[in-house]
Amino acid sequence: MIKQYVCHPFFIKSFLAFNLLIAFTNLKAQNVNIPINTEAFTMLLQTDENNLLRTVYFGESLVNESEYSSVSDMFNFTDSNIGISNATYTTSGTWNLSESAIQLVHADGNKSLELKYVSHSSKLLETNINLTSIVLKDPVYPVQVTLFYKVFVKENVIEQWTEIEHTEKSNIKLQKYSSANLYFTDGDYHLTTYHNQWAKEMQHNESKLTRGIKTVDSKLGSRTMLLQSPNFILSFGNQASENEGMVILGQLAWSGNFKLEFEVDSYDNLRFIAGINPHASEYSLPPNTSFKTPSLIYAISNNGTGEASRNIHNWARNYQVLDGKGERLTLLNNWEATYFDFDEDKISALFKDAKELGVDLFLLDDGWFGNKYPRNGDNAGLGDWQENVEKLPHGIGYLVKEAKKEDVKFGIWIEPEMINPKSELYENHLDWVIRQPERPEVYFRNQLVLDLSNPEVQDFVFGIVDKLFTENPELAFIKWDNNSVIFNAHSTYLEDKKLPQSHLYVEYVKGLYKVLKRIRTKYPKVPMMLCSGGGGRADYELLKYFTEFWPSDDTDPLERVFMQWNYSYFYPSIITDNHVTNWGNQSIKYKVDVASMGKLGFDIVASELSEKDLLFCKNAITNYHSFKDIVWHGELYRLSNPYTNEFAALMYVKEDKNKAVVFNYLVNNRVSFHTNIEPVRMAGLDANKKYRVKEINLYPGQESSLNTDKIYSGDFLMKVGINPNVNKTRPSVLFELTEAKD
Ligand code: GLA
Repeated sequence: MIKQYVCHPFFIKSFLAFNLLIAFTNLKAQNVNIPINTEAFTMLLQTDENNLLRTVYFGESLVNESEYSSVSDMFNFTDSNIGISNATYTTSGTWNLSESAIQLVHADGNKSLELKYVSHSSKLLETNINLTSIVLKDPVYPVQVTLFYKVFVKENVIEQWTEIEHTEKSNIKLQKYSSANLYFTDGDYHLTTYHNQWAKEMQHNESKLTRGIKTVDSKLGSRTMLLQSPNFILSFGNQASENEGMVILGQLAWSGNFKLEFEVDSYDNLRFIAGINPHASEYSLPPNTSFKTPSLIYAISNNGTGEASRNIHNWARNYQVLDGKGERLTLLNNWEATYFDFDEDKISALFKDAKELGVDLFLLDDGWFGNKYPRNGDNAGLGDWQENVEKLPHGIGYLVKEAKKEDVKFGIWIEPEMINPKSELYENHLDWVIRQPERPEVYFRNQLVLDLSNPEVQDFVFGIVDKLFTENPELAFIKWDNNSVIFNAHSTYLEDKKLPQSHLYVEYVKGLYKVLKRIRTKYPKVPMMLCSGGGGRADYELLKYFTEFWPSDDTDPLERVFMQWNYSYFYPSIITDNHVTNWGNQSIKYKVDVASMGKLGFDIVASELSEKDLLFCKNAITNYHSFKDIVWHGELYRLSNPYTNEFAALMYVKEDKNKAVVFNYLVNNRVSFHTNIEPVRMAGLDANKKYRVKEINLYPGQESSLNTDKIYSGDFLMKVGINPNVNKTRPSVLFELTEAKD
């Protein structure tokens, strides 16, 4: 079904007929209404008497189309005030004096831009997905901007991006080229964003927006999330709450420098502009080519962050993440067990541990490559992706086979975007390295970044993965790391091609996507984990090619309760990898329980565990295999917030509501002897169903203090709740609710 709306035939007839265009726009235009409708919300775009496109409404669905035209009559904002600009894509150099969404220099050096509405069309791409595109053109210069709104109706999720093209005589220079420009008139806005450090990722930052611009951005080039994350929660009226109020929650899906700008104007309206960070990134666009921005993706809810999260989780699993509805492999990793100090025998012995534990896969981490400069520490070898003959004389193939003998799959760590100066690659291909030729090199973890704007480097990176899979067709998993930021941003390739250096940040990311597209064309299914020195490199554009991500090297389970809580606003647990390690001094039970809220893995020497700890782990993994489907594919309900309570509680509910699993943790060690006084209210159950409660993951010898003989109604569980009796002797309590059919 394709609906096509046009303002006037002149507009579509000729992109170059500017005289006619000007003549036409001088006529009094009729308002054109363009509703962007999800199941519960309407964003109403409307042309004004000058054919400028305005955002006139963002809120609950407007039921009567006939009333669209009356919306703007109700607002008495005057455009003479520079703070007022509800332009749907704000230009610069003409009438607008506030922060713009687009800024450019025409081929003749002129810097003015005005965008007038030309046409729009909407089509149903598939059940539940609508795409609306709106064409805007400058009446003076042949520049066209198309705004795209992809609506996932049921999930109330919108994906928004922009395409810019032109037919000027030579290149135009794009100085700012945002993905989206939203506008709200609610008056009171609260923003939550997230800052990061190594081992301290996803630290939230909440504030009420006041007049002026709040900017959240990163200029780190690669590993951009080491500073800030491109995720945000906007709430209206009050601070975001779990079950009440209007919230918009989402991210800019871009793996490079980004910028989110939240500007409250003098009438307390909010303009939200999001896109690639214009910092040092002027983009020279040739005629008859198009620049496509990354997507801003957001879920909208009138029932708080809980519903918005469930919506974005469903969207991610159904439409975005690679194999989002599929299975994942539990694993044993050797990073913390061995660091760089291993050989074939040591690794082969760990396969037995993996089998003993009952996990699906063994993951060989960093340190397996490099010969002239062996990778025995983080200061050498990156770039030389040949097995180190001393550590692995029989190569990866041997390890894959040995693992198979234990009935365990085999996976491997790579960091293909990076290079150590101590490497053969550096000796042979200095021209592939991002560095200022005339200046001293600056290192991050002793490494530099390869220039992915260069197609030869793209081939090289593709080749690393291709060789691994070609030589080891049974290789079952890849951990793709990315530790360094970009210092000394300069590309020899761009210089040789006489292309502007200011393209580097953008072309790096595009180059990365090209490589990943090639990998996925040839190897569509193999699971791959995104890692970035921990780091939560988890933007939804990259997640098209990856099945999961590594949230942080900090695996202290208490820290992880908080971190995973924050990640859970944006990402479904199926893509969050959690490992049990030696970090933190909590019990093994606490560690395994926390790691089970996602994809479970281990990074320990299992043979060094006490008998009881090992028995616990084995039983817990068996339990995990029985409930993982609910954690991976069920609905998440956050019940007790660790930031405001002494206990954290979260639950996952199966779609048909006949089973749920509930996680409870003590997060405050000052509580020396108290048990939680009040019950934890469940959510997402069927009020009319009856449920049996069973505590699981009990440590050997531990008795449950929950009454498992009684059966409770969903109504009772959601209104009164269950007391998990969390206290210092029971700091972590896991129980299942199973429908009792009698
Ligand atoms: C990064 C990762 C770790 C590990 C090391 C290996 O720090 O986050 O998990 O893979 O690299 O060098």
